[in-house]
Amino acid sequence: METIRIARVMQDAVLKARGRSIGFVPTMGALHEGHLSLVRTARAENDLVVVSIFVNPLQFGPSEDLQRYPRDLEGDMEKLQALEVDYLFLPEPEGMYPQGFCTFVEVQGLSERLCGAFRPGHFRGVATVVLKLFEIVQPTRAYFGQKDYQQSLIVRRMVEDLNLPLQVVVCPTVREPDGLAMSSRNLYLSPQERRAAPILYKALLKGQEALLRGQRQPHRIRELMHQVLRSEPLVGEVQYASAYDPYTLEEPPVLRGSALLAVAAFIGRTRLIDNLLIDGLK
Ligand code: PAJ
Repeated sequence: METIRIARVMQDAVLKARGRSIGFVPTMGALHEGHLSLVRTARAENDLVVVSIFVNPLQFGPSEDLQRYPRDLEGDMEKLQALEVDYLFLPEPEGMYPQGFCTFVEVQGLSERLCGAFRPGHFRGVATVVLKLFEIVQPTRAYFGQKDYQQSLIVRRMVEDLNLPLQVVVCPTVREPDGLAMSSRNLYLSPQERRAAPILYKALLKGQEALLRGQRQPHRIRELMHQVLRSEPLVGEVQYASAYDPYTLEEPPVLRGSALLAVAAFIGRTRLIDNLLIDGLK
């Protein structure tokens, strides 16, 4: 595995790949099995695999966790080496956002819903860095996790709207045995909070059960999911928990075809998100 820190050098390396397919997995590091599942899929489907690790300041709000975001470069490099990654792209913030940087990508509408309503500017930061990374790595396929469903939807929209010549592949959410979706931010949880955290998944399962019983009114599903979350004393603010149209991310009057069950809630000081996509609704 070759580590590259300079965008120009990364571009030169992939130019030399001529004709070989490139699978790309963008990450912010502190890698866990969720990230590694994307890397394995990329490895299986492409000639070359590029992983980036960059804690992107542009997608963090002023009161968010940029400074304390978990970092474990040594552990990450070992894991990526073991999966036979070809290139690790490891840019510096000054390299990605030099003085005078003033170009941003905004995917309107979708970026304002769900997490976007509580994290203004977050998805603008994500779309901007992902487009930059795509321009640097020039992947054939880029791999994202369903764990961040809204992010994957926004990236897909951007790729389509801007005619980017690559395929977006969305991979299933990897969970701990008790159902908690893997996340770098799970490292913030105290042992007691960690025991409480699967409540998000339980709320999703409650929503799924209602859907499978025939419930089609989002407000009913929202009530059930909130009930489950409120049953856990360590749950703080619930930012959203309901059933949405998976294309618009809005609560329709009646659910039809498919539904996105999604939740964002605080366990102590840690904000966690999770979702389930339910297809085949009659
Ligand atoms: P990060 O949170 O490090 O996640 C990198 C990729 O791993 C994302 O596509 C995310 O959806 C996926 N992922 C995280 N947890 C997962 C899980 N439990 N199962 C499956 N996939 C999982 O998302 C970002 O970084 C950033 O916003 C980024 C796209 C790199 C732009 O800065």
